[in-house]
Amino acid sequence: MSYPSIETERLVLTPINKSFISEEYLAWLNDPEVCIYLESGGNYTMLDLQEYVKQCIEKKVLFWAITLKENGKHIGNIKIDPISKRHGTGEYGILIGDRNTWGKGYAAEATIGILKYCFQELGLRKITLEVIKDNNNAVKLYKKLGFQTEGDLKEHGFYNGKLCDALRMAVFNTAFLHGK
Ligand SMILES: CC(C)(COP(=O)(O)OP(=O)(O)OC[C@H]1O[C@@H](n2cnc3c(N)ncnc32)[C@H](O)[C@@H]1OP(=O)(O)O)[C@@H](O)C(=O)NCCC(=O)NCCS
Repeated sequence: MSYPSIETERLVLTPINKSFISEEYLAWLNDPEVCIYLESGGNYTMLDLQEYVKQCIEKKVLFWAITLKENGKHIGNIKIDPISKRHGTGEYGILIGDRNTWGKGYAAEATIGILKYCFQELGLRKITLEVIKDNNNAVKLYKKLGFQTEGDLKEHGFYNGKLCDALRMAVFNTAFLHGK
């Protein structure tokens, strides 16, 4: 499936391509503060990153680079993967890798743009995610955007050197588009 770029007030979300592979992108994946609650990262090499992006392109994963309109700077990525057309669902993930840009509402803005696209253009019904409970910034972001907790997963995995709980969260098209 080919998919479009999406423009929001301050951001351009561009389908990932090899031109986004950079030392800076690699540095995000090895920044402990960025990847502490992520499944991957911490020991990423440039080859790993190149292979990851290549696989995403080949598999046509819905995966956008998030760039700032004002200067074209690549600050992170957002993706919906996997998607089930049968069930009308998609699994969301986001990474704002440039820590200087945290807390400015960019993740919220990018997510709203992608949710609109998923619900209005792709006709999906439900977008799901999983988040480690200790990842306070992310949990706050998702609640603010209307994601609701559907599952409380006890001692789900090892993060930051300890066993952590996780949440399964979801937002429905009707709630997001019409507040129902
Ligand atoms: C979690 C993450 C996506 C948030 O990105 P962000 O661009 O800083 O988030 P926003 O600025 O859009 O914040 C939106 C809301 O989230 C919460 N939030 C996000 N960052 C926060 C921070 N540093 N301190 C307090 N609240 C924060 C706030 O509720 C904020 O709402 P507000 O603006 O009304 O206060 C980003 O920190 C990140 O990518 N972290 C590393 C990777 C990761 O953990 N991804 C999520 C995996 S589930």
